[in-house]
Amino acid sequence: MPYSHAASKPLPKLNLIGAGRVGQTLAHLAAKRKTVQVQDVLTTSLASAQAACSFIGEGRAVENIQAMRPADLWMIATPDAQIGEAAQALADCIGATPTLVFHCSGALSSNTLEPLRTQGALLVSAHPILSFATPALACAQWAGTPCALEGDAAAIAVLGPLLTNLGAQCFEIQSEDKLLYHAGAVFATNFLPVLQSVAEAAWKKAGVPDEIIQRLRASLLANAVNNIVGLGPHAALTGPAARGDLSAIARQSQAISQWDGQAGEAYSALSTLGLRLAGH
Ligand SMILES: NC(=O)c1ccc[n+]([C@@H]2O[C@H](COP(=O)([O-])OP(=O)(O)OC[C@H]3O[C@@H](n4cnc5c(N)ncnc54)[C@H](OP(=O)(O)O)[C@@H]3O)[C@@H](O)[C@H]2O)c1
Repeated sequence: MPYSHAASKPLPKLNLIGAGRVGQTLAHLAAKRKTVQVQDVLTTSLASAQAACSFIGEGRAVENIQAMRPADLWMIATPDAQIGEAAQALADCIGATPTLVFHCSGALSSNTLEPLRTQGALLVSAHPILSFATPALACAQWAGTPCALEGDAAAIAVLGPLLTNLGAQCFEIQSEDKLLYHAGAVFATNFLPVLQSVAEAAWKKAGVPDEIIQRLRASLLANAVNNIVGLGPHAALTGPAARGDLSAIARQSQAISQWDGQAGEAYSALSTLGLRLAGH
């Protein structure tokens, strides 16, 4: 009977190298949904690996890579700077025999896993576009998270359905476009706090009271988000660039530069992009 056959099929085994915010979140969701069996977990210490297993709800903490058993899927969820080194360590580990290996970096492509190519492993990167503040918060916010897949087609064919089953919205990116793709995400989200901090410093310098600054931040941000989501960036643009007011832009640019040279350069560059967006 098809049902009993599916029920008795063993789950793919998942090993984790690196189990911080992203590793714990994905492994917990996958274990809870029974799409994988979390097997061995390696971090920088046995204690943190044990804590990760406890959050995930299954898995065995190990002290070193040699203690990791063969698995169907390997997730490398270390910080970006350690991914290449972890891939090399895995490639050098005779008993590991990895079949499909993925990392979760947005900026790095699957080429970072290249040392594993000689072992015949399928290589892929899977970048979930979510701010993983803590594993518990990320699990709660996870549903519908867009996830960029890049790498070997055969690996995408395995990992894509698995992540989709967890509730991700998967799409594909070419390896050569990965940096540009990730820079887009930086523009979309990471620059917002930077812009807010410059605005706050300028307001403080101009003598705006603190309680008004808090209110300005909340109302301006909320309205901008609503307008951009509802109307799109072009129609939502307001201010001197939208009006094509070159004289106001030049005067403001000069005032900002006198106060803070780097903020002045940013003001000029963003105003140029604003004029282009407005079609001036
Ligand atoms: N955070 C986000 O919002 C986000 C979003 C999308 C994608 N990503 C990507 O996801 C990946 C992981 O990021 P994260 O935020 O989850 O990082 P994280 O919270 O800092 O966790 C990193 C994990 O890697 C472990 N680790 C570090 N060096 C290691 C090594 N040499 N060998 C084995 N384990 C090692 C750490 O061990 P300890 O626990 O012992 O410190 C920790 O468990 C990165 O590629 C990142 O770009 C992050």
